[in-house]
Amino acid sequence: MTAVTVRRVGGEDWPTLKAVRLRALDADPAAFTSTLAREEAFTDAVWQERAGAGRSFVACRADAVVGLVSYYAEDGRPRERQLVSMWVAPEARRSGVARALVDAVLDAAAAEGAERLTLFVVDDNEAARRLYEQLGFVATGEVQELPSDALRTEARYALPLASAT
Ligand SMILES: CC(C)(COP(=O)(O)OP(=O)(O)OC[C@H]1O[C@@H](n2cnc3c(N)ncnc32)[C@H](O)[C@@H]1OP(=O)(O)O)[C@@H](O)C(=O)NCCC(=O)NCCS
Repeated sequence: MTAVTVRRVGGEDWPTLKAVRLRALDADPAAFTSTLAREEAFTDAVWQERAGAGRSFVACRADAVVGLVSYYAEDGRPRERQLVSMWVAPEARRSGVARALVDAVLDAAAAEGAERLTLFVVDDNEAARRLYEQLGFVATGEVQELPSDALRTEARYALPLASAT
């Protein structure tokens, strides 16, 4: 199988970020709190700003983009980073792409001095829950309703970073 590479998205890469994010929202709407309709309406300036923030990574196999992940610092939680937007194209699943994307975020968050990485998983997303548990993430007990669907909940998971003492 062709090797997968992970690279950080820069400002000039905004069309790549836009394309893979919209594909993710189209392919797996139940996994995300945002929607395709919402993000299709974003102007190019929004995508340029997202890409320029340098907080997304794409996974590439041959010339194709097959995965995406982003992270950011939540308001009021300066010592943490939250992993968001994780998605791997169906044709590239179960070959370690998500694991490689999480690794990239772990390195980036640690390099920024963060002490732990958190994320939310929708409760019925068995694949994602297993992925994160296998990587050592543990449920924090924090559960919240999905903004888009009050009948479904998502749970916060967390992993301490190696840089933390
Ligand atoms: C969840 C998702 C990101 C996993 O991506 P992936 O590249 O297939 O994951 P990996 O190959 O790196 O898998 C790593 C481990 O995660 C677990 N895992 C991944 N997919 C799984 C599945 N469908 N069922 C059970 N366990 C799974 C396994 O433990 C796997 O290790 P193994 O293959 O050695 O058994 C992918 O299925 C996806 O994009 N789903 C739709 C979007 C989504 O749910 N995003 C997450 C939002 S929180």
